Amino acid sequence: MNNAYHIIGGKKIKGEIEPSGAKNAALKLMTAGLLFDKPVVLKNIPHIGDVRTLIDLIKDLGGSIDFIEKNILRVDGLSLKKNKVNLFFGSKVRVSFLLFAPLLFRFGECYIPNPGGCRIGARPIDRIIEGMKSLGIKVVYSSTTGYYHAKMIKKPKGYYRFPKPSHTGTELLILLSVLSANNQVVIDNAALEPEIDDLINFLNLAGGKIKRVGHKIIAEGVEKLKLNHPYAIIKDRNEVITYVSLALATKGEIYINNFSDNLIEIFNKKIKATGNTFKKLKNNCLYFKAKNEFKAVSLETQPHPGFMTDWQPNWAILMTQAQGTAIIHERVFENRFSYVEELRKLGAKITLFQPKVIHPEKFYYFNYQPSTQYFQAIKITGPQKLHGGVINIADLRAGASLAVAALVAQGESIINDIKILERGYEDFENKIKSLGGEIKKIKYD
Ligand code: EPU
Repeated sequence: MNNAYHIIGGKKIKGEIEPSGAKNAALKLMTAGLLFDKPVVLKNIPHIGDVRTLIDLIKDLGGSIDFIEKNILRVDGLSLKKNKVNLFFGSKVRVSFLLFAPLLFRFGECYIPNPGGCRIGARPIDRIIEGMKSLGIKVVYSSTTGYYHAKMIKKPKGYYRFPKPSHTGTELLILLSVLSANNQVVIDNAALEPEIDDLINFLNLAGGKIKRVGHKIIAEGVEKLKLNHPYAIIKDRNEVITYVSLALATKGEIYINNFSDNLIEIFNKKIKATGNTFKKLKNNCLYFKAKNEFKAVSLETQPHPGFMTDWQPNWAILMTQAQGTAIIHERVFENRFSYVEELRKLGAKITLFQPKVIHPEKFYYFNYQPSTQYFQAIKITGPQKLHGGVINIADLRAGASLAVAALVAQGESIINDIKILERGYEDFENKIKSLGGEIKKIKYD
């Protein structure tokens, strides 16, 4: 049996949070560090399940990677010995396919399993593989072994236009281009997520020559990467949204310390539209305070700078406490409403439906199949009274939102399978306690 949280909900959440480093930057910069000529030190690396799995995976390949202090990680890819990612680790962390870059640069060829990760939609990597091939890399998939076999005969160069943007796809192509000395790579219709810019910034400080021009990324390959001082990765915008949504849904207030508001600009706009208070204070501090009554606000998810898909489960919880009807339309992933069934166990009334869309194959960012029945939107009319219950987590962000819902609900709840939540949230239990929430981890292992 997996560990669980025991939660007594209904308390007003009030206090301050120091956000952790971003999971979705940490995993990429750890992988990038394997390309360096010398060991590199990363700061702000969160102690979370996905980081631990990637450390295990890299160690299994012979790499040397260890925390030297809390949240400070030393990465040394010079000792990599194997070019085949272990199926067990590969199935646990989706970004294992980013290892194509360091393994191809060290060994010229490598084997990587079809990625694992959260159960949100089909999550194919077809565009990413096409991108690799456009840069001259040979990639063959074996359905017998479940492995991709990639070969780099010549250093990558050329042009690839993502038919629809891909966050980690953009990052992989950057990693494959940075060390392609004397060659240029142009990535068009690239994703715009701030974690990608953090990766570019890190690589450029180490000697990389990568620039973003609108939706294009242009990389001029360099001979080597080296950084003599530690690099602090950006803070986790997803974690921040989770705690802010919790504070507002419980009609409380929260300060977010040392966090730049431009990472969550569109979220703050939506918060203002609800009538709740959002203020920028001095010293990079943000302040949010709930009104006793606030308005329902509809939205659709989009890649950055749009309203992020990872935030929509939190918005759904917030909307259960708002006045009026909100519609949330998910455009980035298919099947990202697994939490709705669980929320119903807490008494939430939420309708799943498929809105009319004129050109769905263009409108959605996943690979739309006309023969599939989709339910890409939910309708919530608030305010609703939530009660306690026993709920199960199916994906990471939804998992944190279910814990939030239990903290909003009156009474006692058990949240099962919290390992999924702990893949992405550092110190969740203690942070909730510090905000006045009643939560206790039940350990079964
Ligand atoms: N897609 C394809 N083919 C591809 C690539 C993507 O069909 O080759 C589809 C995806 O299935 C999805 C859409 O395109 O429907 C966008 O996917 P994208 O590649 O942009 O997402 P990702 O890189 O797999 C990252 C984050 C997600 C976050 C999204 C959107 C990491 C490790 N993951 O996923 O974060 O939701 O970008 O910003 O960076 C999370 O942290 O819990 C999480 C899921």
